[in-house]
Amino acid sequence: MHYKIADGIYWVGVVDWDIRNFHGFTYTTSRGTTYNAYLIVDEKPTLIDTVPQQFYDEMLANIKEIIKPEEIAYLIANHGELDHSGSVVNILKAAPKAKLVCSTHCQGTLKRYFGSRLGRDSAVATQDYQFDPQVVKTGQSIKIGKRTLKFIEAPMLHWPDSMFTYLPAVALAMAGAPAEALASSEPPAKHGSAQAGDETDAILFPNDAFGQHIASSARFADQIDETVLMDEAAKYFANILAPFGSLIVKKIEEVQKMNIPINMIAPSHGLIWRSDSGVPPQAGRTHQRINPGKIIQSYLDWSKGETNGGVVIVYETMWGGTAKLARALADGITAEGVKVNIYQVPGTDRSDIIKEILLNRGLLVGSSTHNNDMLPNLAGLLYDLSGLRIKGKIGAAFGCFGWAGGAIEAIEEELKETTVEVVNALPGVKFSPAPEEIAKTVEFGKDFARRVKAKNGTSSQK
Ligand SMILES: Cc1cc2nc3c(=O)[nH]c(=O)nc-3n(C[C@H](O)[C@H](O)[C@H](O)COP(=O)(O)O)c2cc1C
Repeated sequence: MHYKIADGIYWVGVVDWDIRNFHGFTYTTSRGTTYNAYLIVDEKPTLIDTVPQQFYDEMLANIKEIIKPEEIAYLIANHGELDHSGSVVNILKAAPKAKLVCSTHCQGTLKRYFGSRLGRDSAVATQDYQFDPQVVKTGQSIKIGKRTLKFIEAPMLHWPDSMFTYLPAVALAMAGAPAEALASSEPPAKHGSAQAGDETDAILFPNDAFGQHIASSARFADQIDETVLMDEAAKYFANILAPFGSLIVKKIEEVQKMNIPINMIAPSHGLIWRSDSGVPPQAGRTHQRINPGKIIQSYLDWSKGETNGGVVIVYETMWGGTAKLARALADGITAEGVKVNIYQVPGTDRSDIIKEILLNRGLLVGSSTHNNDMLPNLAGLLYDLSGLRIKGKIGAAFGCFGWAGGAIEAIEEELKETTVEVVNALPGVKFSPAPEEIAKTVEFGKDFARRVKAKNGTSSQK
């Protein structure tokens, strides 16, 4: 079922209620996801992005509710990853006159996935498609009728081929609005009709930036619980975009310098961010509208490591000694009035722990020594974390050992790899902590909490 998001602009994507693992098994999508494709109905109907190939029929049915697929004049591929490009070839076959528009890198990506030589490498059925795209660069635009689409390359957000498409506001009624009678999943009265002087929203289609993996019958961010929304947005940033923090800051600043109004951010996954400006009241709105500026500011904060959060304790244990240390540390941190959460691996989901690490300042990591090293599940988490390069954390290691130890040193080394500012470790505890060692651990927790407060204070003064 399609959904009208603005005059002449339709969500024609798919909700994937079932998916629980993404990018193989690197990211848990416990709330499912959506693959957002957008259809702009103008003189030259334009489709922005597609859906995974197995959902092609559903997207096609959504498009058919609005126009004949063969009428599509432009297909914009903002990104070549298969969750967005999986149906590109199908659409180009269904709409033979459609011109594919993409970045130089995206052309290369699509050829690798669907070109004649390389179909065998792909999880997608072998194709032999000859691409003839219109390659666009930052600053270039295409006129699709009353509307003009502008392109902003966004390399490494999160692949080299990534691109944003921007639709400036346009005075529809004055220019001749598309008929309001077009099919819609909502009664037309709820949308209002274009009046003289009405504008469509200025919309940024940033593909994978600003997304969240949430399956929902709602399409707008203000129609679901904000805590859930921001939690999933943070998880998405932490696990996918964090390595590119400095590029994100630069790209946001570049877009801000362009001084273009953005009333709506329509990402390729999850809910659409919109402001009050230019959008008529909608049924089903249960929350205050969240200005797109909120997610932009959150991206800036997360990219720079800005947080006033507490402490995350994450540990793995064989016989429970390290767990006792974790709880004693939490007691000390709590006594200092700092928020703390404990997560045991592998019992807690790794993607969720990484999100918690993003949102907090302190990171205490514990493991019993196993074969002169930390335990393997914890090692997997730290290995993942080191690639994500989340900024602005202070951390320390702790754990029990039997004879020569080794886990604490291994954790410290890995934390330094992840750009965590490592403070002196809690001394290792032989086999099981004695009462006086528990007391020392509580004190260590208090001291660590004070460091967290000091670092929070320093950064909030910046
Ligand atoms: C399979 C296995 C391997 C171990 N390897 C080491 C080791 O290489 N060096 C060491 O000091 N202790 C080693 N230990 C001892 C544990 O580190 C020790 O029992 C510790 O107290 C366990 O802490 P926990 O209660 O948090 O699991 C090993 C224990 C087991 C069961």
